[in-house]
Amino acid sequence: MSEDQKQARLAQIKRQWEQRRAITRSLGRIKTKLGVYSAKGGVGKTTVAVNLAVYLAKHGHSVGLLDADIDTPNAPQVMGGDARPAMNEGRITPADTFGVKVVSMSYFQQNADEAIIMRGPMIHNSINQFLQMTDWGDLDYLVVDMPPGTSDSPLTVMQVLTMDGFIVVTTPQSLAALDAKRSINMIRKLNVEVLGIVENFTGDIFGTGAGPGLAEELDLPFLGSLALRADYRDNSRPTVLASADVEAEYDAIWAVVEPRLAELEAAAEEPAAEGSAGAAT
Ligand SMILES: Nc1ncnc2c1ncn2[C@@H]1O[C@H](COP(=O)(O)OP(=O)(O)OP(=O)(O)O)[C@@H](O)[C@H]1O
Ligand SMILES: [Mg+2]
Repeated sequence: MSEDQKQARLAQIKRQWEQRRAITRSLGRIKTKLGVYSAKGGVGKTTVAVNLAVYLAKHGHSVGLLDADIDTPNAPQVMGGDARPAMNEGRITPADTFGVKVVSMSYFQQNADEAIIMRGPMIHNSINQFLQMTDWGDLDYLVVDMPPGTSDSPLTVMQVLTMDGFIVVTTPQSLAALDAKRSINMIRKLNVEVLGIVENFTGDIFGTGAGPGLAEELDLPFLGSLALRADYRDNSRPTVLASADVEAEYDAIWAVVEPRLAELEAAAEEPAAEGSAGAAT
């Protein structure tokens, strides 16, 4: 390796190290990171992520929402409202929408209908950049709206952002359950916790069953059903704020997720305590 190559390599390592440090700094004040994911498109990931974030904010938590779907970002549209993020000297202050701090690639598009075409390394860079540049401040929860699929985009997000757990969304049909199973296997391969399964679009039209069935089969908590409702057509504000029935659905989901997160947090602290006791002897 020539001297120039050595210097270039060193500079690259330094850059990567600085990036990691910037990300750690930016995410360091977030207590819990929750991903909402399904390999299948259109099952309601964004809808669940948005409504869960708003639900948590309504219940007194400080909450952020990261739209990590960088190919087709649409969380701000699903959320409603017209707040925008602020850019100052290369730093992003998230949009404050219905009490939630929101960051999405869609804010930075010139035209909403523009196609964002990215290959592997570009996806990685964009996610990294977002994470480095955003000032989230202190958050109890960061809800991450995941892109669909099981390849580059979701994989990158899962690798860059160490999530505390995932909520997997399925629809009531058995074919969707197969995709949900793939999603769960992907999360498990990365050694991340699956907090449970939510069934969306439950009701007379699509029926019910895939969510509870899959939860039983995979020995995971079933977090609850979200009914198919016309209320979601109103995009002016998150449905959880407009419908008491939807809020009750999120009450049920959170009643299972919150204690599970507390358990995980306690378990994460335990080995450290044992380790230090062991070291002392
Ligand atoms: N329970 C529901 N009842 C009625 N409509 C719903 C419900 N859940 C989601 N929708 C609607 O279904 C559509 C798809 O939902 P959403 O965008 O949340 O799916 P997604 O999984 O995030 O899709 P993608 O994979 O493209 O990111 C949206 O128009 C949304 O308003
Ligand atoms: Mg989506």
